[in-house]
Amino acid sequence: MENFRRRRALVTGGAGFLGSHLCDRLLGDGLEVLCADNFFTGAKKNVNHLDGDPWFELLRHDVTFPLYVEVDEIFNFACPASPVQYQVDPVQTTKTSVQGAINALGLSKRLGVPILQASTSEVYGDPQQHPQTEDYWGHVNPVGVRACYDEGKRCAETLFFDYRRHVGLSIKVARIFNTYGPRMHPNDGRVVSNFIVAALQGAPLTLYGTGEQTRSFCYVDDLVDGIVRLMRTPDDVTGPINLGNPSEFTVRELAEKVLELTGSRSEIRFAELPSDDPVRRCPDITRAQDTLSWEPKTPLDTGLRLTADYFDDLLRRGSAGSDSG
Ligand SMILES: NC(=O)c1ccc[n+]([C@@H]2O[C@H](COP(=O)([O-])OP(=O)(O)OC[C@H]3O[C@@H](n4cnc5c(N)ncnc54)[C@H](O)[C@@H]3O)[C@@H](O)[C@H]2O)c1
Repeated sequence: MENFRRRRALVTGGAGFLGSHLCDRLLGDGLEVLCADNFFTGAKKNVNHLDGDPWFELLRHDVTFPLYVEVDEIFNFACPASPVQYQVDPVQTTKTSVQGAINALGLSKRLGVPILQASTSEVYGDPQQHPQTEDYWGHVNPVGVRACYDEGKRCAETLFFDYRRHVGLSIKVARIFNTYGPRMHPNDGRVVSNFIVAALQGAPLTLYGTGEQTRSFCYVDDLVDGIVRLMRTPDDVTGPINLGNPSEFTVRELAEKVLELTGSRSEIRFAELPSDDPVRRCPDITRAQDTLSWEPKTPLDTGLRLTADYFDDLLRRGSAGSDSG
C-alpha cells in the first residue's frame, strides 16, 4: 500500500460526457477521484473502464441534496447540457444548477478547498456581440424554454461570485462553449452527435432554419485541458473564462464535413428553427490564452473522425439507445 495520500478531486456529473473525460484526466495526473452522479443523462458505461482502479470511486448522488465528503478540490459538472434533456424536467434543471451550486459551494466552504464551475456559453443567450468576451452580459430570454438552463447557470455564477466576495472562497468559473467527442449521448439532439449518428445510419441530416447559423466546436481533450489548467491557477484567478474553439463553422458546413468524413449518402433536410436558438456563437478566448496559455489544438477533422469512430462502434454494438449500465 502506498504511504502517501493523493490529492482527491470530487467531480459532480462525473459519469457524463465531459465529466468522465475529466475523471480520466485527473486520474492520469495522479489524483484520486470521487465521481458523484445521479445518472440522469450520464451512464455507468462512461466510467466502466475505471472500475477496479483503486483511486476511483463512483457514488450515486443527486447534487440537489448536500454531500458530506472529504476532498481537496471540487469540479461542479452535474447538469444536463443538451436542450432535449434539460427541457425534460425544466424545474429539476434549475434546481440542479442552483441548489447543486449551493451544495457544492457549501462543501467547498466547509473544507476550504477550491471549486470550479462548469458554466456555459448559454449565459450569453442569443448574443448581440460577436465574438463573445467575458465582460459581455448576455441577451437571455428569462421566460423562454431555454431559461431553465441559461438562467440556472447564470444564477450559479452569481452564487460563485457572492461566495467569493462574502466568504473568500477560491472559485473558478469556466464558460464552456460547444464541446464534442466520444461519449456524447447519441440521442441528445446536439448537432455533432445528431449529424454523425444520422450519417452513419444513412438517415437525413436536419438543418434548422437555413443552416447558416454558426457554431464553434471544441474537442473534448482540449476542453478538459483548459479546465485542469484553470483549476491549477493561483487563488486570484476566478474567471469567468471562456473555453471553446474560436474557429467558426456554419451548421451547414459541419453537415457537409460529416457526410464527407463518414462517406455517407444521407440527404440534407431543412426544418423550422427552434425557439430561442442562437444564430451565432463564438468565443473570444484571449483571456484563456493570456491566463492559462491555452487554446484548442485538435483540428475539427481529427476530432470528428475520433467521434465518428466512437459512434460507429456504439452502433455496431447496438447500444446507441441505452444510456445506463
Ligand atoms: N458539452 C458541452 O458542450 C457543454 C457546454 C457548456 C457547458 N457544459 C456544462 O458541462 C457540464 C457537463 O456537460 P456534459 O456535456 O458532460 O453533459 P452530460 O449530460 O453528459 O453530463 C451531465 C452529468 O450530470 C449528471 N447530473 C444531472 N443532474 C444531476 C443531479 N441532479 N445530480 C447529480 N448528477 C446529475 C448527469 O447524469 C450527467 O452524468 C454541465 O454542467 C454543462 O452545463 C457542457
